[in-house]
Amino acid sequence: MGGGQGIGRATALLLAAAGARPVVLDAERERAEAVAAEIEALGTKSAALCADVTSPNEVESAVAAAEQASGGLDIVVNIVGGASWAPLLSVDEETWERDFAVNLKHHLYVGRSAARNWIDHDRPGSLCVVASVSGLFSSARHGAYGAAKAGVLSFVRTASEEWWPHGIRVNAVVPGAVRTPRMESEWAAGTTPQPAEDLLGRMALPDDVAGAITFFVSDLAAKVTGQALVVDGGWTTRFPYQLTT
Ligand SMILES: NC(=O)c1ccc[n+]([C@@H]2O[C@H](COP(=O)([O-])OP(=O)(O)OC[C@H]3O[C@@H](n4cnc5c(N)ncnc54)[C@H](O)[C@@H]3O)[C@@H](O)[C@H]2O)c1
Repeated sequence: MGGGQGIGRATALLLAAAGARPVVLDAERERAEAVAAEIEALGTKSAALCADVTSPNEVESAVAAAEQASGGLDIVVNIVGGASWAPLLSVDEETWERDFAVNLKHHLYVGRSAARNWIDHDRPGSLCVVASVSGLFSSARHGAYGAAKAGVLSFVRTASEEWWPHGIRVNAVVPGAVRTPRMESEWAAGTTPQPAEDLLGRMALPDDVAGAITFFVSDLAAKVTGQALVVDGGWTTRFPYQLTT
């Protein structure tokens, strides 16, 4: 879900390289189709779906379509999210609602539809979602996003406990700043502060996050559930924690 660009695209390509047959879903049809075509060009079967994950009905239909297109869904990765920038003293109701819709609420729709699908088919499954270090620490000037991403981590822990008896694992990858096309244009436009380099000497790339997601959904993580793995090159281990250069 959200596989048409950035971390989602990198994850779809890496999962294909690891032997999966990804169904790429995105709200932007052309993006999903372009990534599915990239995967097919590498010799792996793929399919594209267009849906808005903030709509429970669209999610339910999309999960059913993905089950059919894949011939049996084993893995769901939900990457959809994005930040608004406003300090708590002035954040408006619309922004607060938007960030909860775009970053948190759809995890229930996607997770529950996937879990019901796996339970109905009596098949184990693995769900991996993308949170943010903004949900672990202070998220000054983007508090709506941070609060929503903190909620994602709570959702992961609860879903892992409730669904483990059905053989369903639920984990989260927690990136710091990642050099995605979206972030590059936001940094260039000055709408998002450009972060400092991390301890490993370069900004994380979408492939760095895709690697952690691929681990979680693979059999290598067969006994791992309810966990959150930070992928930030040591950024948040710094003291004092610096958001900007
Ligand atoms: N890029 C970063 O620096 C960074 C840092 C921390 C966390 N994250 C998180 O990683 C995730 C992906 O980030 P990215 O930079 O790759 O994002 P992106 O905006 O580049 O890609 C997101 C994709 O999701 C799709 N999408 C958006 N809304 C959708 C919806 N309602 N339904 C279906 N598809 C939808 C978009 O069309 C896009 O293709 C987000 O959850 C983000 O919060 C990113």
